[in-house]
Order: sequence, then structure tokens, then C-alpha cells
Amino acid sequence: MKVTVIGAGAVGATCADNIARKELAEELILLDIKEGFAEGKAIDMMQTAALLGFDTKITGVTNDYSRTAGSDVVVITSGLPRKPGMTREELIGVNAGIVKGVTENVLKYSPNTIIIVVSNPMDTMNYLTLKTSGLPKNRILGMGGALDSARFKYYLSQELGCSPADLNAVVIGGHGDTTMIPLIKHATWNSIPVTQFLKQEQQDKIVAATMVGGATLTGLIGTSAWYAPGAGTAAMVESILRDEKKLISCGVVLDGEYGQKDISLVVPVVLGKNGWEKIVDFKLSTEEQATFNKSADAVRNMNQVLSDSKLI
Ligand code: 2OP
Repeated sequence: MKVTVIGAGAVGATCADNIARKELAEELILLDIKEGFAEGKAIDMMQTAALLGFDTKITGVTNDYSRTAGSDVVVITSGLPRKPGMTREELIGVNAGIVKGVTENVLKYSPNTIIIVVSNPMDTMNYLTLKTSGLPKNRILGMGGALDSARFKYYLSQELGCSPADLNAVVIGGHGDTTMIPLIKHATWNSIPVTQFLKQEQQDKIVAATMVGGATLTGLIGTSAWYAPGAGTAAMVESILRDEKKLISCGVVLDGEYGQKDISLVVPVVLGKNGWEKIVDFKLSTEEQATFNKSADAVRNMNQVLSDSKLI
């Protein structure tokens, strides 16, 4: 198997590191536009192989897309990260042009690949990638739900004093501070509803902390987070390449599911060798559906920028 990660910044490099440690691919190409940057990070990672005992061959390249040829999965992390106080949406002007150009270059050499979009604002970048690539919709996935669900489990575990691994909890909607929907009423601690252990104010606190989870870290670190985004992306790559059929919240372009069409939103999907293989379209409560529709309106509004700037 061959994987390409575009963008050797913190998220791209962490994603590559996770993929190599798990030996998800024989070959991994790390590509960046900055001369020598991906090469340096790839060599640094390869120098951990003797210590960690993995066989994945990581090669760094400067903007040479021919080296990405025949990739089974391509992860796009290109673009600017958030600075403290910035929303993901504020990045659209710069990142849309970058993501469109990257997608076109990727497809020249891997016309049938599966693309995972990490660049922000993710929901709009994922929609743009589908429109730019012309690939079947199940081969385009946005990373956001895997990360936001992991953050949700972190905050739940802190309040419950339990292991995050014992929790089942999903986030749907958008990958934005105001558009993501942590579904706390559906969350369980080894199949027992978490709502049985948490007062309403604790539940509200967990949901609010999850929604601004990325912004909290940006404020603390000074730039976007990378460990959980990198691990979330690698978990998606793993389910695809190992055909695990894991149920993971991902950004996908909907066609009537959850009452929405022609828009990329985060919903639970089964991930296997064909990309997303099934959207799990379960019945939301009236209140949850109304919140989902509100998130869809906000994302649709953002997508409008793409047609206004003639990117689609
Ligand atoms: C985050 O939430 C990178 O959007 C990503 O940290």
C-alpha cells in the first residue's frame, strides 16, 4: 500500500508518524512546498525506525507530485493553520486556492485515490475537493469527526473519571466551533448512558468544551493542535487500508441523508477499502435535527464563497 501526506507541517508529520508506527503502508510520501522541509522530517522519522521497529519507507519530497503516483490514500493537510483567536472559517480565502491546486496535482498521478481532507475550514474544503476531483463521493472524506469525537471522549472521561477507551461518543454536524454537535444523549460508558452519571450542568460543560476544543489548544499552544488531529487522520487511514469497516464520524457529501443534500457534513460512516462505504443515517431527536439543520445552513453559507470566487 502507498500513502501520500501533503503538507509536512505538524499535523501532516504527526499523521505520517502514526501511519509509519502502525505500518499501515509499505510506502509513505511526505510532500511539502518548502524546499527540503519534507525531506528533513522524513529522514528524522526514518531514524526512529531502528528504535521503534517499523518497516514503512518514508520519503520526503519538495512539490514533486510524480513521486506520489499510485497512492491508495492521499491526506491533504496543506494550508495555513489557525492562530489564537481565529476561527477555522477565517482561513477559507487562502486555503481554498491551495486545496484546489493540491487536489488537481494529486489526481494527475493518482486518478483513483481516496482523499482525506484535513485543511480548514474542513467542511468547505471537503466539498471543494469533491467538486474539483470529480471522484465518486465515497472516495472523499473530511477529517474532523474522528478528532472531535476523541476530544468529546476526553472531556467525558475527565468528568466521569473513567478511561476514554471505555466510552462511545460521537460528534456530528460541522467541524467548526459553533457547528459541531456532540451527541451527549447517545454517549455511553461501556453501553450505560453517560447521562445517568452526569448532571445537566456537567453535560453542558462537556459539550461546550468539546465544541471549542481546537480553539482552546490554539490559545494554549499558539497554533493549531497536531497530536490528536494526526492520530484521528491515521485512524481513518487504518480503517480504509485494513478494510476494518470501523464506524467513524467523517465529513462526507450528503445526498438526502439526515435531510441534507449537496453539502459536506460530519456523520457516522463505515470506513473500508472503498472509502466511506455506508452512511449510518440514524434518527435524531427533533432538537438534534434542528441543530443539525442550523449547522448545515452555516456550512452552506461558507460554501457560497467557493462559487462567489469561481473555485467551483
Ligand atoms: C483542530 O481542531 C486542526 O481543525 C483541527 O485542531
